[in-house]
Amino acid sequence: MADPVQNSAAKAQHKNLNDLATMVSLCKRRGFVYQSSEIYGGLNSCWDYGPLGSNLKMNVKQAWWNAMTRRDDVVGLDAAILMAPMVWKASGHVDGFSDPLVDCKKCKQRFRADQLPQALEGACKEKENCKGAYLTEPRSFNLMFKTFMGPVEDASAIVYLRPETAQGIFVNFENVQSTSRKKVPFGIAQIGKSFRNEITPGNFIFRTREFEQMEMQYFVKPGTDDGFFEKWKETRWNFYLKLGMNSSKLRFKPHGPGELAHYAKAAVDVQYEFPFGWQELEGIHNRSDFDLSQHQKFSGKKLEYFDEAAKEKYLPFVIETAVGCDRLILALLCDAYREENSVDEETGRADTRVVLGFHPEIAPIKAAILPLSKKAELTEPALKLRDGLAREFAVQYDDAASIGKRYRRQDEIGTPFCMTYDFDSNTDHKVTVRERDSMKQERIALDQVETYLRTQIKAKAIAF
Ligand code: GAP
Repeated sequence: MADPVQNSAAKAQHKNLNDLATMVSLCKRRGFVYQSSEIYGGLNSCWDYGPLGSNLKMNVKQAWWNAMTRRDDVVGLDAAILMAPMVWKASGHVDGFSDPLVDCKKCKQRFRADQLPQALEGACKEKENCKGAYLTEPRSFNLMFKTFMGPVEDASAIVYLRPETAQGIFVNFENVQSTSRKKVPFGIAQIGKSFRNEITPGNFIFRTREFEQMEMQYFVKPGTDDGFFEKWKETRWNFYLKLGMNSSKLRFKPHGPGELAHYAKAAVDVQYEFPFGWQELEGIHNRSDFDLSQHQKFSGKKLEYFDEAAKEKYLPFVIETAVGCDRLILALLCDAYREENSVDEETGRADTRVVLGFHPEIAPIKAAILPLSKKAELTEPALKLRDGLAREFAVQYDDAASIGKRYRRQDEIGTPFCMTYDFDSNTDHKVTVRERDSMKQERIALDQVETYLRTQIKAKAIAF
């Protein structure tokens, strides 16, 4: 079967994403991400993942989880969002987790003092005569969300929504170490929601007030921390390359002495070049023994590790890798996006193909099953094929519109393979499999399709 799309491939020119609005619109239109509570006018900086977005998110989390916990030296944890309030006193969040906030008395908007004067640009509604002239003195604004535990809403009932998942790991260090019988060096990995009452959220799912983190704390003997810090930098860099990300859009940005968080001895960001500039994607920190020693002090419980080989006790140092799942999804979407402007050689018509070139492992749909016509002699066996493949893969059945349009729909959501069931299929028992990036087609026997898909996806699997 001739692919009407394949003819236009030869003269294709690629254009990458250069504005965020295009991605926001694609995400809404195709069911990746919607504004939260949209029918009520939306809730600022909160987003919901649609049918494709939730699949994508699950795949991203799975890739990270596998990369971390299939190692022999890292185990998993799923701690509660609500924790004893003293945890946040010990961690320094109650006293120190704040941004400097200024109010404009004229336009009533709020800005982060450390982002002035750029934050005023285009933001102040009174910019003609305001321009920062009416700003209050900076005051400290704590970013933790508070709520009450139990029926009485008084100060003794205040609990916080965790602003990072890390503390769930530190307070469970002893539990996990003794039950998993891991010896230092070893790590604990966790994926979960975190909440920060950001003063200036924005850029779609880049900075939100509710987000998901994927964090790993690696406990090491003091003195070996610098070496492990370097190792984890390399491991995390390779993770992004294995996900198929463009290395020219990734870079390390070390923190200078004045930029270090209160807990950090050393820190480096993995930055990604988003359409709005280079920004932090992941933080890699040497947290020294700050957290364990704080929790030891505040809880009164000994958290030292006994090193049997060396017959010595010590508080381990911690190397932390922390990436936001939503932020990584935005980076992956931006990185995967391309427009191919081409000229159809038969008709001479200008044509644009939008492709999300996802790595097959994270693509929300692995294969689309497309009967060439809506006749039952094609749709019935095509649905049977769909049902068989769906036992192992996320697949989509589509029988609406021309085959060219259906290919385009799948390209735009990043589906690596399209399988067309045509009139020959009933006699030769084969389907045409079209690969997303090359648009190459081959006939594959129906009883081999499952193995084909498995092999193709496995061939590109992210090896750990
Ligand atoms: N435990 C260390 C920690 O939380 P962080 O640099 O504050 O470090 C780690 O956060 C990662 O979490 C960031 O690199 C970013 O990917 C993500 N993140 C932080 N704040 C976020 C927000 N408001 N919205 C989305 N992602 C966020």
